[in-house]
Amino acid sequence: MRPLFPPWSDTLLRVCAATVLLGAGAAIAVPMMYVRTPYGTGQANPLVQPLKFDHRHHVRDDGIDCFFCHGDARRSPSAGVPPTEVCMGCHGNLWGKSPELTLLREKHAANEPVAWQRVNGLPHHVYFPHDVHVKKGVGCVSCHGRVDLMGQVFQAEPLTMEFCLECHRDPALRLRPPSEVTNMEWQPPSDAKEARALGQQLMRDNQVHAPVECSECHR
Ligand code: HEC
Ligand code: HEC
Ligand code: HEC
Ligand code: HEC
Ligand code: HEC
Repeated sequence: MRPLFPPWSDTLLRVCAATVLLGAGAAIAVPMMYVRTPYGTGQANPLVQPLKFDHRHHVRDDGIDCFFCHGDARRSPSAGVPPTEVCMGCHGNLWGKSPELTLLREKHAANEPVAWQRVNGLPHHVYFPHDVHVKKGVGCVSCHGRVDLMGQVFQAEPLTMEFCLECHRDPALRLRPPSEVTNMEWQPPSDAKEARALGQQLMRDNQVHAPVECSECHR
């Protein structure tokens, strides 16, 4: 008797089954991989800002401290973006006629804010306080990278839950004297023992307790 199914049907069935399984696997794995890529975490999103504000000029060349424009980072949960008055303090007469600054002058005259595009952002279910981190000596560079070298700011770190927890579990080596938080070039001692000792001392001096309880970040 001829077999009901030809011999190759077995192979076909296996290939089909494998395809379905792989497909199902990929349907789960691909999004899981995607959310961890720079695109998924928003790190690679190109943004077009209304004005060509350049941190390299302002921070590096002109030596303006981060707090001059983001002073809220010291006293409130959000770091904020400076109002046009802060810019006009210099640009009222400096480069007063530059076409690059037309929009700034218009917004200032109309008493309206510049509509900056947001670069870094967490979902609404996460609470992140700048002031606490700044006071305890976590440098801006830890979460925002070398902003002083960025022509246009981009999200430098993934800002995922794992990113936060990695530091919270053992912050000692990531701390610096609070006076150095805006210093983009501060480095811990190169000797590992000394670095650990300084970290431990900063933990004690500033009574650092970085929480890992869910309710601290999800309020
Ligand atoms: C002269 C004012 C000024 C100074 C000084 C300044 N910034 Fe900014 N910063 C801005 C403005 C304006 C924006 C919004 C436009 C943009 O994103 O480039 C901004 C945006 C940012 C952003 C992105 C905000 C977002 O939407 O997520 C970060 C991060 C940032 N600044 C960090 C820093 C750090 C760190 C320093 C010090 C090393 C610094 N800035 C110094 C004016 C300033
Ligand atoms: C402490 C003084 C100071 C403040 C405050 C300041 N700037 Fe400037 N800005 C400068 C100087 C100096 C330059 C010249 C660029 C350079 O350093 O090469 C400049 C250049 C610029 C330029 C480029 C102009 C051109 O013609 O190329 C833009 C755009 C600009 N600033 C926007 C801003 C905005 C927006 C703010 C507020 C968030 C701001 N600046 C705050 C000093 C300042
Ligand atoms: C421990 C990480 C961390 C440190 C340290 C930190 N930031 Fe941020 N920053 C963030 C996160 C996360 C956001 C997005 C906040 C959100 O969406 O609620 C943000 C947002 C911002 C913004 C956008 C406006 C806002 O308030 O949301 C600016 C500007 C900024 N940071 C500047 C700074 C400056 C300047 C410093 C140092 C003085 C600093 N940050 C230190 C994590 C950090
Ligand atoms: C490089 C280290 C570092 C990173 C990264 C970091 N933190 Fe923290 N965080 C700290 C330290 C240190 C403290 C402890 C502050 C203290 O002792 O009061 C802290 C405290 C906190 C607190 C407690 C605030 C309070 O009122 O006591 C919250 C909430 C928090 N962090 C949220 C976050 C979130 C959300 C992220 C990620 C977006 C993050 N942190 C990333 C170092 C970090
Ligand atoms: C130090 C701050 C911090 C702590 C502590 C923390 N989370 Fe989160 N969590 C975050 C951040 C930041 C995100 C947003 C991640 C993103 O957008 O990729 C997040 C996202 C989430 C999400 C959404 C899914 C996801 O991965 O984006 C869940 C669910 C969650 N957290 C549960 C928890 C639970 C349960 C705990 C306690 C065991 C906890 N978290 C503790 C910071 C924290």
